[in-house]
Formats: sequence, C-alpha cells, structure tokens
Amino acid sequence: ASELYYDFVLKETNFTKLCSTKSALVVNGSFPGPVITARKGDTVYVNVHNEGTYGVTIHWHGIKQPRNPWFDGPEYITQCPIQPGTNFTYTVLLSSEEGTLFWHAHSDWTRATVHGAFVILPAENTTYPFPEPDHEEVLVFSSWYKEDVAILMDEALKYGGLTTLSDSYAINGQPGDFYECSNETTFRLAVDHGSTYLLRLVSSVQNTDMFFAIADHNLTLVGVDGNYVKPVVTNYLMITPGETMDILVTATQPPGHYYMLISPYFDGQADDFDKSVTSAIFQYNGNYTPTSSPIYPDHIPGFYDIDAARNFDRQLKSLASPEHPANVPQHITTRMFIALSISMLRCPNDTCDGPDGNRLASAMNNITFANPSIDVLQAYYRNISGYFEADFPDKPPTLFNFTSDDLMTDNVTLSDQGTRVKMLNYNETVEIVFQGTNVMNSGENHPVHLHGFKFYVVGAGVGNFDNVTDPLTYNLIDPPELNTFPVPKDGWATIRFVADNPGVWFMHCHYDRHMSWGMNTAFIVRNGDTEETSVRPPPDYMPSCGENSIYGGA
Ligand code: C2O
Ligand code: CU
Repeated sequence: ASELYYDFVLKETNFTKLCSTKSALVVNGSFPGPVITARKGDTVYVNVHNEGTYGVTIHWHGIKQPRNPWFDGPEYITQCPIQPGTNFTYTVLLSSEEGTLFWHAHSDWTRATVHGAFVILPAENTTYPFPEPDHEEVLVFSSWYKEDVAILMDEALKYGGLTTLSDSYAINGQPGDFYECSNETTFRLAVDHGSTYLLRLVSSVQNTDMFFAIADHNLTLVGVDGNYVKPVVTNYLMITPGETMDILVTATQPPGHYYMLISPYFDGQADDFDKSVTSAIFQYNGNYTPTSSPIYPDHIPGFYDIDAARNFDRQLKSLASPEHPANVPQHITTRMFIALSISMLRCPNDTCDGPDGNRLASAMNNITFANPSIDVLQAYYRNISGYFEADFPDKPPTLFNFTSDDLMTDNVTLSDQGTRVKMLNYNETVEIVFQGTNVMNSGENHPVHLHGFKFYVVGAGVGNFDNVTDPLTYNLIDPPELNTFPVPKDGWATIRFVADNPGVWFMHCHYDRHMSWGMNTAFIVRNGDTEETSVRPPPDYMPSCGENSIYGGA
C-alpha cells in the first residue's frame, strides 16, 4: 500500500452560471473539486489550507477510518472547524473500501460547493470483479444556487419550506442544455463505438433524490457506496444525496449524441418543487452528422414515480463472492427503532427565532440534534462533561400510526433540542429499524448516512413496520452493504452493522436541509480490551475550539 499526498486550498472563487456570477468557496479553484485517486488500503494525507472567510471541515464520505475518528471531519462531532488562515492535515486510512466514494465539506451547507470524487482502485495485482472497462470517467452531480448558500441555510433554519430549492443541478459542474446561458458548457463525454465505460457517479446534490438515464443505453450497475454488487442491468437508476454508484456502459448504438440526464424524484406534497432536468451528452467520436438535437431518453421516470424509486432500490444485492464476501450479523445485541420526522421545536414561551417564535425542525425519535460548542469526540476522549448526554432514546416517545395523513398532535410533532448520543460497546451487533413518518404531512425519503461503518440493508418496505411479519422478509444472505440508504417515504428500512470501530461517529439524513434542522445523532463506540481495538492517539494539531477547548483558545 502507498502513501499519497494532496493539497486542498479552500478559497472564494468567482463562477458564472445561469447568466449570473457569484463567489463560492471551492477547493483548488474548481467546481466540483479535485478527484482523489488511490488504491485499496492506501493512506492518503490531505493538507487543507483554509483561505476562505469562515471555518470549514472536510469529511471522507464512506471511508471507515478504522479507530481514527480524529480525521473523520463532521464539525462539532469529531473536530472544530479549520479557521481561516490556518491549515489541517487529514490522515485518511483506506481499509475495506473499493470503488467510488467522495469527500465533502461537513460544516453548515458548504458541501454545496466543496465536494469531489474519491476513487479507490483495486489493490495492486488484483482486478475488478467484472471485465476491465476500456475507459473510466467520474460524473459528479451537484446543486447550484445563484444565492450564497450561507444565506439560504439561515432562511431554511428559520422558515423551512422550499426556500432552499436550487436554481439548477449540475453534472461535472454544468447545468446543461435546458438552462439559460448554459448550453455552451454542457459536459460532453466523448466515447468510441464499441468501448465500455466505467462511469463513477457521485451525488453531492443538496436536498433531492435523482433519477439518472442515458438515452438508448443500458446501465449495468456493479458497485454502490464503495462495495461491489451483483450486476443489475437497468435503463435508469435512482441516486440520493450521499450515494455513489459504479456503472458500466457500452457504446453500442449508432454514432450520435445521446443525452445523459439527471432529473429530480420527489414524492411529497409540493407542486412547486424544482422539477428541472439537467443534461450532459454521451457523444460518439467519428465522422457523422448528428441529429439537430441530442437523443432524449424515453425511460427516465417522472417526478412522482415512487414505484420506480422503490423498484430500483429493491434490486441491490451484495456481490457476495469469495473475494468480496457478505458477512451479515446474524445475532443482534442492540436493537433500536428510530422514527424520522419533520417537527416543531419545543420553544418555551415561543422564544425560537422563526416566525411567531416557533421553529421548524427535524428529529430522530423526537430529538432535534444540537451541535455542542466543542466536539463530542474531544469531550468524550478527555472526559469533559457538559457537552453531550449519553441518553439518545432507543425508541420514539410515543408509538402511533406513523404513515397516517393526520399527525398534528403535540406529542408527535414537538421535538426537544439536545446533544444526545448512543453509547455502544466494542463489537456489539446493532440493528436499527428506521421508520419514515408523515408527521406534519411531510413524508419524503430520508437518505440516512452513517459515519465510521458500512451497514447491511436487510429489509425495506412500505407503511408502518410490523415487527412480526416484516422481519420474515429480511435478506440475511446477500443484502447490499452501504453507507447511505433512502428510508422510503411512509415506509421503513432495517440496517445491521458490527460496532467494530471505536470512536465517535455521526449519523444523519444526507439532505443538508434536514441535517441542519437536526435529523441527526451520533454513536460513541467504546474501546475494546486491547490497543488494536482502541481509538488511536489524537494528533497534537487538532483545530482549536476556542476557550473551552483543551486544544487552546485561538
Ligand atoms: Cu456525506 Cu455526514 O456525510
Ligand atoms: Cu431527510
């Protein structure tokens, strides 16, 4: 295994898109940011120089970082932000990951412009578990806002609603042909007839699930979230914020220009939601006259196509080969049931900062997560009390019909703010049933992401979870092993993982809107008995958290 070094310079840079210019914080002057390429098992050092105007952290999404929470990145969970004018070098330890993942800022909504792909090739002298593609290409999906995202986040925190819609989405930074001032810069992938392309898809979209399709071409899905899956041949796929997918596409069609599209999927109430379609072009090389406009896919599912979304996710299965086995925990020691909801914060005497002293929020088991002022990891590791409570509830406070249309009673809609985490012993086997709810008529998918682990999604379904019949449907042989999974609107999903990574690990909805409203919690996994099962010693150069921090008061 090798050691690789990258420098990331974070800086405000001007971009003109959609006929309008704004300054955005990006890495090394580019949107999306640079691709990191490594091999399985490598160690990657990334020196992040913050030349911006506010504190930022970077997270290595989907990378376990064994016993290495110091460098995981979520602000106020494992570190305080890297302040302007300072730098911080992350040590990223690759272990079992192989395939495509990504990195992104993990402070407020900076992920919008601070993200890029993280490609992990097979270890030296090993190969893909599928025929070697002729070419590889990264396709990063993003949201683009004309407004400064910090302003949008403030509005979303206070007023919620749809004030946070993006002005467009982007494929490799480009909105594509269907937006004003954009058709000159549409991303084009030049392909040779007969060649096979490994396309590495990354969704760093802010708040929406996306369908993806290429006109007249089948997609063969071979990897999800840095794990191989049994190949699925499909003409569209659904990808949520935080998901990454590896697909093979063979250029077998008559030479031409074919649209590659991403189009939002949303099964909620909002009719004014942004339904715009973002395009790139799969463009054959050669001597021919292309049709006047590129060929449009006839298969891309519609905005409200909930069946298309569910059917796609149902097909995912681990490859489960001898080289890439599935090891699904069979005996469970810790069970949790987590209801995901949009809520109103309990605001004593209407003292919150939204309209009428109220504030819209989101919650797990009616707890709206609040970031502490020094990171949970530091408080835990150094035994500094007062920054978190180890009492995150295993169940929601009241059991009710989660998917009913009328869920407006106070004990269901109100949430309490707190920094409440769940403690786990080393090597516990954990099962979590996530229940999507329609509290306040706000049912939608929630792509739940867990740091520090991969988990098996052993089951998912529609409606209220039934703890007698639904477990009978679990796949305990070859379920997909993921780091992010969309808990279906008005449905449930069950995950299992082994708590074999001591440290502090965040878990949250990967819609930034829901994360900043508080649909989060964290796990603290205690050390095992030996040094090899304990958190590594911290570096002596963690960013300061100000005067309360043991790292000094910069
Ligand atoms: Cu992709 Cu907590 O993040
Ligand atoms: Cu959510």
